[in-house]
Amino acid sequence: MKRIVKIGGAVLLVILVAVLGFVVWVQVCGVPTYEVPTSQLPTPVVAATPTQVDLGEKLVMASCADCHLNRQTNSLSGHQLLNIPKEFGAVYSANITQDKTHGIGNWTDAEVVTLLRTGIGRDGRYRLIMPHFVHMSDEDMSSMLAFLHSGSPWVKPAPTPTPAQQPSFLLKALANTVMKPTLLPTGSVAPPEPTEAITYGRYLVVGRYQCFECHSKDFKTNNAEHPEQSEGYLGGGNQLVTLQGQSIYSRNITADPETGIGTWTEAQFGQAMRYGMAPSGPLQNPMPKYSRLTDEEVHALYAYLQSVPKIKNATAEDGVRVATR
Ligand code: HEC
Ligand code: HEC
Repeated sequence: MKRIVKIGGAVLLVILVAVLGFVVWVQVCGVPTYEVPTSQLPTPVVAATPTQVDLGEKLVMASCADCHLNRQTNSLSGHQLLNIPKEFGAVYSANITQDKTHGIGNWTDAEVVTLLRTGIGRDGRYRLIMPHFVHMSDEDMSSMLAFLHSGSPWVKPAPTPTPAQQPSFLLKALANTVMKPTLLPTGSVAPPEPTEAITYGRYLVVGRYQCFECHSKDFKTNNAEHPEQSEGYLGGGNQLVTLQGQSIYSRNITADPETGIGTWTEAQFGQAMRYGMAPSGPLQNPMPKYSRLTDEEVHALYAYLQSVPKIKNATAEDGVRVATR
């Protein structure tokens, strides 16, 4: 008996020391820094065409503005993110206007690309919450840069300082464990032809718009390098937060007829994507509004989503709807 108590005590002590050690380690590490990988800029952006700037604007509206657009300055000068879990502390999206002091006016294109692809800033600090655009094509990447260099009011130098991040212990712990930088692509990243609907749709879902990040089971089990290996790929149920700070689950967007979007027509899907109007009613933030999707994109997204393995997964929001469908 005494022996068991002794062993039990020793085990407890080891656990306690391990937990304490982890806490101290996270506090000491804070937000990790990494060696900055150097990216080769695939397409020089010097000769940006109006078409490129226009595509860049569309992509930034779809994938950056929800976090970086400040409604007061009407520019990408950043603000505190209210739609992240409260337990993460205070996180501010950065000023990414052309301001040389407070924005990214002094960043080279290669530095911006490295951050977008890997999550590592030019100072080596890992950027929190910022999504990684691992599979975005070089062409799309260059178009976004072209827009960031353009004369649009959104990117004109705004002298708004970005407050220092105040990540909680939890966020720091995640930044040292599950949130990891992703690798730079080793070669060029070319998009498939838009006429190949399913292949192009996959590109839109994993590369251009990253739907899979929000729509698979959990950010923590997503696989940025091999998206299809993310747990519950496109089956929804990832717990997110609305702008009002309420919890919301992403929906199942596989073609399961009961819990997914298997019974939707392409036109209904287009309405949901462009105007946030699903057959069951309006969709809430953080589902972005992709107001500038082309018919070709809607068609490709729809074709691809119909083709991925169906998952049966009703989310909390589905409760009523599943019954009434
Ligand atoms: C989910 C919200 C979110 C989205 C979407 C997002 N960002 Fe960010 N971004 C952030 C946050 C938060 C930071 C600051 C993180 C930090 O400092 O730890 C940041 C930082 C940055 C920085 C670094 C600036 C600096 O001075 O450190 C750049 C550049 C940037 N984002 C560009 C973009 C672009 C371009 C897009 C769209 C392709 C985008 N971001 C999409 C949240 C987001
Ligand atoms: C930032 C996270 C996020 C991203 C990125 C995102 N979604 Fe969503 N999406 C959501 C959330 C959250 C909902 C649920 C909204 C609600 O219940 O009101 C949703 C709802 C939907 C719905 C409605 C499904 C239903 O049953 O009503 C569809 C369809 C959809 N998303 C498709 C997409 C596609 C396609 C993409 C990429 C082009 C995408 N989403 C990108 C978070 C996201």
